[in-house]
Amino acid sequence: MTAVVDSDLARFSKEIAALDMKPLWERVMRLAPGTAAQGAIWRWQDTRPLLMRACELITAKQAERRVLMLENPALPGTTFITPSLYAGLQAILPGETAPTHRHTPNALRFIMEGEGAYTAIDGERIPMRPGDFVVTPGWTWHDHGNLGTKPVVWLDGLDTAFANLFGAHFREDYPEDRQGAAQREGDSLLSFPYERTRASLERMSKSGDPHPSHGWKLRYSNPATGGDPFPTMAVFMQWLPRGFAGHEYRSTDGAVFCVAEGQGSIAVGETHFDFAPKDVFVVPSWERYRFAAKNDCAIFSYSDRAAQEALGFWREES
Ligand SMILES: [Fe+2]
Repeated sequence: MTAVVDSDLARFSKEIAALDMKPLWERVMRLAPGTAAQGAIWRWQDTRPLLMRACELITAKQAERRVLMLENPALPGTTFITPSLYAGLQAILPGETAPTHRHTPNALRFIMEGEGAYTAIDGERIPMRPGDFVVTPGWTWHDHGNLGTKPVVWLDGLDTAFANLFGAHFREDYPEDRQGAAQREGDSLLSFPYERTRASLERMSKSGDPHPSHGWKLRYSNPATGGDPFPTMAVFMQWLPRGFAGHEYRSTDGAVFCVAEGQGSIAVGETHFDFAPKDVFVVPSWERYRFAAKNDCAIFSYSDRAAQEALGFWREES
């Protein structure tokens, strides 16, 4: 009897496949938290020499952006570090400019090395110093320049995958390399200088106990709205005191971390990474992780938590 039913079902599945339909009861795809992405680290001792070689091989103008993309080893061909996020290391040499363009994806910059560079966003020129976090809202004109004497390197974080998913990735070049002469300089709502962030972390660390998994962790907010700086990405800086041994934690937002200060380690699932300043690592969605700090650590991170919260998807477990 069962055999007859099974063969009837098999015949039925084949029949509807010809009409581009499939039976839901035969679906085998993953319907559980987590993604195909895996934990991975890009160490500054490896990435910096490669960035400097790229500087010899191509100009910022030729490249439009001289960026080494950090692609998750389990997501080959995507150019993404998680299924929803992009990360890249960008280098610009003294005297160079990266031409003006705009695109629908939102971008963040976390400055890793060098002084004297700026990013101009819709006519506002914002200085970039190590540890600063700069917001480039989607569809704003932006270019970068280096007026200093040394190379400047930063981490680019974008929500490109969202624009791609929705079929809404638009981009445009500005008619000239640089934006108009009306560039202003000053206290920008789009910049979070490191000295202010560090002072906030220090205040936090004096006013209460650290979180058992995150240490003291602040979430950057848009001063105009009080919400996240982006509709998709939430951005953080955390402080782990020397000797900190964090409890295991996981959440549904895959996150990209960049070490601003200090040395330590992170266990991600079955993998263990030692980290040092300017290393970048990724913790995929719903993967258990825990931090350990050898000395005082300041760690920057961004994730897709803003989008997940807006959609009601976000979960955590400690
Ligand atoms: Fe851009």
